[in-house]
Amino acid sequence: MTNPTILVTGGLGYIGSHTVVELINEGFKVIIIDNLSNSEEFIIDRIEQITGVKPVFYNADLCDEPAVQKIFSSNKTEVVIHFAAFKSVNESIEKPLLYFKNNIASLQNVLQAMQNTGVKNLIFSSSATVYGQPAQLPATEETPFEKPLSAYGSTKQMGEEILEKCCNAGLLNSICLRYFNPVGAHNSALIGELPKGVPANLFPYVTQTAIGKLNEITVFGTDYDTPDGSCIRDYIHVVDLAKAHVAACKRILENNITSVYEVFNIGTGNGISVLEIIKSFEKYTQQKLNYKTGNRRSGDAPAVYASTAKANDILKWKAELDLQQMIESAWNWELSIAGNKVPGEISS
Ligand code: NAD
Ligand code: WQD
Repeated sequence: MTNPTILVTGGLGYIGSHTVVELINEGFKVIIIDNLSNSEEFIIDRIEQITGVKPVFYNADLCDEPAVQKIFSSNKTEVVIHFAAFKSVNESIEKPLLYFKNNIASLQNVLQAMQNTGVKNLIFSSSATVYGQPAQLPATEETPFEKPLSAYGSTKQMGEEILEKCCNAGLLNSICLRYFNPVGAHNSALIGELPKGVPANLFPYVTQTAIGKLNEITVFGTDYDTPDGSCIRDYIHVVDLAKAHVAACKRILENNITSVYEVFNIGTGNGISVLEIIKSFEKYTQQKLNYKTGNRRSGDAPAVYASTAKANDILKWKAELDLQQMIESAWNWELSIAGNKVPGEISS
């Protein structure tokens, strides 16, 4: 099959935009649906700057069923990658209905439009959040789910369940990717994460503190049962994550799937502590980060990291970029959005 078309929902968002770049680099045609609820339209020009190709873009809300149907009816698509969702854990605790509506109704509309137009292949953005504090480490795909603490977490568990049921009914082939902690940015510093308001995640909080947008960062807990007392996570470079989607597209298109519903952890397999991130960031930027130690953040698991054996062996994908490249690209992106010159050649 030459140049299959991949329809990417949420394709102007953080992970979606990096994936669109990698898909175009691999010769796929791309159609994006995004309602810009958490992204900016200029990202489409940045994608064109990086790849030389401007993907087709529909500004549409996936909760609008007729609009979704119309886009599917007027475009031939081989695979859908469904990124579009709201993703703030805290906001979802305050506004659960907003999250159930946006994340579940949009998935249902996409699946219905796929069924109506005979599109069979879907790749879904799931999250390590489904494991909570994993009963054993590293977390494998067989590690049992924990009862979700947030509506956001519920929507990821429900999303997976909806897909599995549709696959078992013969409607769909689906690959579900459980991302661990995506960080960093494209090495061009033209695309990256654009958090609205004060970020909740560690990396943008670190870079915004370092550049002076925020005064100080608090390390949430240094009394955990971990080597340095701070929490451990599996940080994965967003470009590696994007490439996992390309691998999943190829697998599903080449009909290499061994089951109609497959799940893969997408991480590096390395657990890194909050204090290690801060020390590495200080070393890379050669500047002291203004941080203090504070109380634990409610709901945080002490340690989460992935077994990536299944993704390595079966998906034939492996993370290649290291912590230095995550820090370097995140920092260059922060400098770039602050309007500063991006220094030097970037190694990732
Ligand atoms: P993001 O907010 O940057 O991107 C999501 C995109 O979807 C945005 O461009 C937004 O405008 C769009 N969107 C949201 N609702 C929509 C709707 N109803 N109709 C059309 N477009 C809509 O988020 P991201 O970090 O790129 O995350 C992508 C996916 O990965 C999400 O499903 C998220 O839950 C999942 N995920 C993210 C992380 C993370 O830490 N970033 C970790 C695990 C899983
Ligand atoms: C990482 C570590 C914090 C900020 C979240 C979602 C998860 C997934 C990825 C979507 C933790 C510590 C943070 C700060 C800190 N998203 N931290 N000070 O919580 O592992 O995962 O994003 O699916 O569902 O829950 O990521 O980046 O918020 O935190 O000390 O100011 O950094 O306590 O240990 P988390 P994070």
